[in-house]
Amino acid sequence: MQFNPYVSAFTRQDADTALDDGQVASPAVQPYRLQNNENPLGPSPRVVEAIQAAASTLAIYPRFTDIELRRAIAETLGRGLTPQHIFTGCSGFEALELIMRAALLPGDEVILSSPTFAGAYKKVSLPLGANVIDVPLEPGTFRYRPAEVLAAVSNRTKLVMVCNPNNPTGTLIDSRALDELLRGLPDHVLVVVDEVYHHFVDSDEYPDSLKYVLEGKNIVIVHSFSKAYGLAGLRLGYGIAQPAIANQIAGLHRGFHQNKLALAAGIAACRDQAHVRRVVDYVHTEARWVYAQFDRLDIRYWRSCTNFILFETRLPADELQEDLRARGFLLRGQTGNGLPYAMRLSLGTREANRAFIATLEDILRARRAKG
Ligand SMILES: Cc1ncc(COP(=O)(O)O)c(C=O)c1O
Repeated sequence: MQFNPYVSAFTRQDADTALDDGQVASPAVQPYRLQNNENPLGPSPRVVEAIQAAASTLAIYPRFTDIELRRAIAETLGRGLTPQHIFTGCSGFEALELIMRAALLPGDEVILSSPTFAGAYKKVSLPLGANVIDVPLEPGTFRYRPAEVLAAVSNRTKLVMVCNPNNPTGTLIDSRALDELLRGLPDHVLVVVDEVYHHFVDSDEYPDSLKYVLEGKNIVIVHSFSKAYGLAGLRLGYGIAQPAIANQIAGLHRGFHQNKLALAAGIAACRDQAHVRRVVDYVHTEARWVYAQFDRLDIRYWRSCTNFILFETRLPADELQEDLRARGFLLRGQTGNGLPYAMRLSLGTREANRAFIATLEDILRARRAKG
């Protein structure tokens, strides 16, 4: 029996050996999880109550439709968006996957701009037989280059991935750049704007991407409940697009696609925006404190529009990742993203952030003493 040849690039081994809490040196050490951009405050207590209530009827299938969740999402987004503009996914990752499965045929091209969330974009598009074209961000500034992206478009281009704010850099693609991109793209190309960190943005330059959906442009926006809503463990996300596109993508849903706990939790989360505001304020306060520490330690960093910060030291990131892990701090080095001295710090609890800075300072001092 022969498997789909496009699938062979990825195996379960990759997942089994991923950087996670199983890998800290001693099982006695409770690791600080600063590697997955999780929410240190967790979900709203009202969401937890909604999940508990839904858990009492788990013997019964959920409603076949996710309409109530889509209604809650559309109401939260406002702007005249309707449930027909929304499709849900079991995570933002799955929303991306549904878009790619709906759009891509073997030989199609997907343009992305590294460093970005490329691992995930490739993981889905390559097994579908698509080719990935990289038009990198400007080195050092990580500015998006719409003219270069437009120049890379061919008649096989199907998707342009725009991660905004971008992971792992935390930087923005500003409204002028997105506008230039959308104005220049031919009709056969769909822009996928991955906005899973959008709640954390505090900038006038952030594009109003919903406007393009309402104008009927070829654009799909992806949001997630994993970040500001604090529900990474639940796996819930959604996409926003003009109804003709959203309906097409949602056509890939399995029967009873969303489980009951996720449906209840998503609705409750949408209805507690005060919690989201608390989370965002917390993250901004912590980011300011970490910036001040990086300034004090003369560490280069990029101002972030997300709940994580990219920073660079003079130590190879792989080594620093190991040193930190040995001391119970899980962070992701960025060598795989072409940044061999950069690390990504997910902002954690106040205590975690302080412990991390103290440990980093200690490691850098010890390394300097060694020469
Ligand atoms: C840029 C980006 N997009 C999508 C995702 C997927 O989020 P999830 O699948 O947890 O909704 C992540 C997760 O870290 C991300 O960083």
